[in-house]
Amino acid sequence: MYRSLAAVFLLLIVGVAGTSRIAFQQSSHIQRAVLPHIMKDVRLDWCPQCVNSFDDLVQIVLDIILQYGVVDTCGHLCELVEEKTGSGLLGFICTMGCDFLGLEEFVKLIEKADIDPIYYCEVMKICPINDNGDAKFKSFAVLPPRAQTESKIAVDMVYVSKNGTGTGEMIITIQTVDKIPLSSGFFLEAQKPGTYGERLVIDTTPDPECDPTQGECEQWLAGTYNITVLLCNGQCGSHHPHTALYDTARGSFTLYE
Ligand SMILES: *[C@@H]1O[C@H](CO)[C@@H](O)[C@H](O)[C@H]1NC(C)=O
Ligand SMILES: *[C@@H]1O[C@H](CO)[C@@H](O)[C@H](O)[C@H]1NC(C)=O
Repeated sequence: MYRSLAAVFLLLIVGVAGTSRIAFQQSSHIQRAVLPHIMKDVRLDWCPQCVNSFDDLVQIVLDIILQYGVVDTCGHLCELVEEKTGSGLLGFICTMGCDFLGLEEFVKLIEKADIDPIYYCEVMKICPINDNGDAKFKSFAVLPPRAQTESKIAVDMVYVSKNGTGTGEMIITIQTVDKIPLSSGFFLEAQKPGTYGERLVIDTTPDPECDPTQGECEQWLAGTYNITVLLCNGQCGSHHPHTALYDTARGSFTLYE
């Protein structure tokens, strides 16, 4: 039973890996600035850790099934996860999920989640769910709107939530002059009702480390760049439950030589 399940699991993972959007893909050109006025709750919060470790967990569980074929208990599986990664955190997240669901369901869920870490961590009850949440942009500014090439551009935004937000994601995409798609996703923790600020900084300096044989290298030519930012419940664009688009904002900036 587990052997056939593992085979199905493998097929699905391999089949899905090529097509699904990589969660929290990061362009090295876009950074999230931590705004100093946001007070962090000091309590231990496993949710961001779970979301950030999810890809590693999928990868290691996959490797274990490849190597061992059959794993008979959650304890055994998650011990192997911890042993092979040297990470108590991954072992813990594995154990929480696997004990909660049972081994068979756990493996099925990892397969079904097709790389949507937020959904996974919500089903594990590690991340909070809020399906009545909302968020609307109150302001959105791209500064400066005109700059010399190789400048830094700030995207400042404020959004308001009346009902609070679910565990989600903010995605920025930039339509570039040389048509190379640029985008980054950032994790958003579930929030209470309130007003929240974010700042993203775009560095319009071509990356000297970028290797054109490994992928396209953004050149940051002179011209106008369009920016779109999405605020989402869950992973933007995911077909899993607890997913919604809260709001969209658009802006642009122009680079000159
Ligand atoms: C806030 O939540 C209530 C239910 O609790 C819902 O009826 C309402 O539509 C929500 N408001 C927004 C702005 O989503
Ligand atoms: C930005 O948007 C404007 C207006 O929608 C469009 O004409 C222009 O081609 C866009 N720029 C890029 C780089 O896609």
